[in-house]
Amino acid sequence: MADENGEWTPKPYVSGAERPRGEGSIFDPNHRTKDEEGPKAFITGWPVWHSRSPAIHGAWLKQFAIPGSYVRMGVPPEEIGEFFETLGESGFVGGNVTVPHKVAAFEAVERRDGDAEAIGAVNTLWFEDGALVGGNTDAYGFAANLDERLAGWADAGTTVVLGAGGAARAVVHALLSRGVERVEIVNRTMGRAEALAARFDRLFPGRIAAHGEEERAKLLERADLLVNTTPVPEKDPDDETPDWFPEPLPDLSALPDHALVTDIVYTPLMTPTLLAAKERGLAYADGLGMLLHQAVPGFERWFKRRPTVDETLRARLVADIESGL
Ligand code: ATR
Repeated sequence: MADENGEWTPKPYVSGAERPRGEGSIFDPNHRTKDEEGPKAFITGWPVWHSRSPAIHGAWLKQFAIPGSYVRMGVPPEEIGEFFETLGESGFVGGNVTVPHKVAAFEAVERRDGDAEAIGAVNTLWFEDGALVGGNTDAYGFAANLDERLAGWADAGTTVVLGAGGAARAVVHALLSRGVERVEIVNRTMGRAEALAARFDRLFPGRIAAHGEEERAKLLERADLLVNTTPVPEKDPDDETPDWFPEPLPDLSALPDHALVTDIVYTPLMTPTLLAAKERGLAYADGLGMLLHQAVPGFERWFKRRPTVDETLRARLVADIESGL
């Protein structure tokens, strides 16, 4: 929103001394776009300083020479309702939503696309005739990455999905809507696996079931595709081992030789699951492509050009990840 000096600041958050001032906060100079012209989009989350989306959209804006911007808007959970309510006055054409605000965004929008409805979360926002609309491009990103890197993945008879959190919902939606015959959810907390299976059983009857971790090895024996959605264990801050890596690697010995493996986690790029797949000589795809591809539909909506995910952009993000940025 331009003030009388022609300077633009996002309306919902222009003051508030109590707010944190680190990178990704509302005081982050990165999200002040006063010198910029053209459509302005954002990513909101809490925290959001670590998000790689600005690097992706920034690269595409530059590539197309579009005079627009894509900025981080760190908004704490207690303020996210107000943020969405006042978005129409902010001057943004739309934006992305990441953890922990995807369900709040789902509730805040006036309309949703079919993927957001199925997944129960919104990661992309835009306006249509003044109304705030929400979509979900995570399932699209997941599928587009595998289309590029694991040919034939959608012909899988049985897919085992490890984890039953928010990310697993998008994965399951992609798998079932692209025609994978059966999805077996394996999760530490059985109730969460059951809730996820029940949600998608309504949409795709008889093709999904929930299991506890004790069933994992038996299920892997008939898996054509394995998808990990659980986080990589974090390093103990007191552990000073150089090149520390979580051990032991997951046991993938039960998987058939033709099984494909993917992980939606991309830091590190080679997760324990992918390393185990590599050791077994299985075909695998890392999760970075999902992040890159999920950004495409949002960019096209806001900036009116459809970008492609190319090796140059991927290499740039790989370099960032490997240098610890
Ligand atoms: P996301 O949005 O990334 O999916 P989430 O909703 O917190 O994040 O879900 C994380 C998933 O990883 C959950 O299925 C979680 O299992 P629980 O439902 O039992 O909590 C799983 N997970 C997290 N840490 C795990 C661990 N150390 N071992 C096994 N599963 C783990």
